[in-house]
Amino acid sequence: MERGNFGSKVGAVLASAGSAVGLGNIWRFPTECGSNGGAAFILVYLACVFLLAMPVMVAEFVMGRASRSNTVGSYAVLAPGKPWIVSGFMGVLAGFLVLSYYSVVAGWTLDYTYETLSCGLMAESDFGKYFADFVSNPWRPVVFLLLFLLLTHFVVAVGVEKGIERYSKIMMPMLLLIMVVLVGVSITMPNAAEGIRFLLRPDFSKVTRDVILSAMGQAFFTLSVGIGTLATYASYFSKETRLFQSAMSVCVIDTLVAISAGFIIFPAVFSVGVNADSGPGLVFITLPYVFREAFAGMPLLMYVFSGLFYVLLLLAALTSSISMHEICTAYIHETFKLSRKMAATIVTSICFCLGVACSLSFGLWKDVTVMGMGFFSLFDFLTAKFLMPLGGLLICTFVGWDMRHKLVAEELNTKALPLLMILFRWVAPMGIGLVFIYGLVSA
Ligand code: TRP
Repeated sequence: MERGNFGSKVGAVLASAGSAVGLGNIWRFPTECGSNGGAAFILVYLACVFLLAMPVMVAEFVMGRASRSNTVGSYAVLAPGKPWIVSGFMGVLAGFLVLSYYSVVAGWTLDYTYETLSCGLMAESDFGKYFADFVSNPWRPVVFLLLFLLLTHFVVAVGVEKGIERYSKIMMPMLLLIMVVLVGVSITMPNAAEGIRFLLRPDFSKVTRDVILSAMGQAFFTLSVGIGTLATYASYFSKETRLFQSAMSVCVIDTLVAISAGFIIFPAVFSVGVNADSGPGLVFITLPYVFREAFAGMPLLMYVFSGLFYVLLLLAALTSSISMHEICTAYIHETFKLSRKMAATIVTSICFCLGVACSLSFGLWKDVTVMGMGFFSLFDFLTAKFLMPLGGLLICTFVGWDMRHKLVAEELNTKALPLLMILFRWVAPMGIGLVFIYGLVSA
């Protein structure tokens, strides 16, 4: 990426929203929500989004635009010689891990795109079996993982994000529109009421330590915060961009997409009788049923609609994976004085190797575990439940306590400054710290 500016205010919000909205909303949110008991999880998640993760987003914006540098570089510019820079390195490490396992799921999406467009998927009778056979196959998911990584690589290496910016202006609203239609279909499926109840009627006895840690992890993951992605993006913002307002818009858009995904998946889950806590396969198993239900007797519409949905989901995943790839590439490129292409190649190669390990953990390497988890779950745990919240804690503490207050005030330029300072200094660090102590000690 050239150190230029995003074209407009809308461009800045859009690029950040492009990073935020992705598989985290449509795949990970329903997965976590299902495994953690539904409505009560959503309430804790919403609190985490607005009290803990949103402040981190604003803090990242402040750091990025004030320093005009990448994750590691921004600490070097704003606090030279201080140990804060470790938080930057953690961000890069987390970037590698997230991209590796994210690409596995994006690879599944690519397979589903291919299969819907070539009329294979919707002809299946048992989608649960299709998914289980597919992910445990040693080759097929790895091939799609590679293809997806190459797609990301190509965009990052060539730097065509001008094009991405332009496309996402059309694609994102289209994805939302399709989702609204699917919500309509799903909530009218037989027995859908049970799914709606699952989403709306909280059962607080289900809120355990792990549920709270999961909700916080999901909040950080879905907003792409805690590892400096949005700081890197904010270094390309213009001075006119209102940081707090932009962050709020991104949080609201992201939350709407996640909640709609919940309203597509869960009524269908209960309608077709899949287990709500069936893990990472949940979305891939239930969505095809929704398409089949929606267009029973209209094969052409089913073909167009399901194909379009997976294409859009793939693009949403791509705008997110680009942002993860970008932090790693920008760091290697600027630190080791390698060309951008070389840096991107290194990142892609490392992520492919790690990604293969994650992919195989659904089949061949099922029994290879570290701390009781396969590679896929391990990477997910280490990033969402550990590195991202910890990074967020450090970022808020840095902006709240160590950065010059005048500079923070200038960057933010909003009446909400006193409130934000309370969030940076007290609410976010203490909240994250408490969830950590509470959740990890018991884990
Ligand atoms: N937020 C994205 C999603 O919901 C994933 C993502 C993009 C991400 N960049 C990130 C997650 C950086 C953590 C860190 O799909």
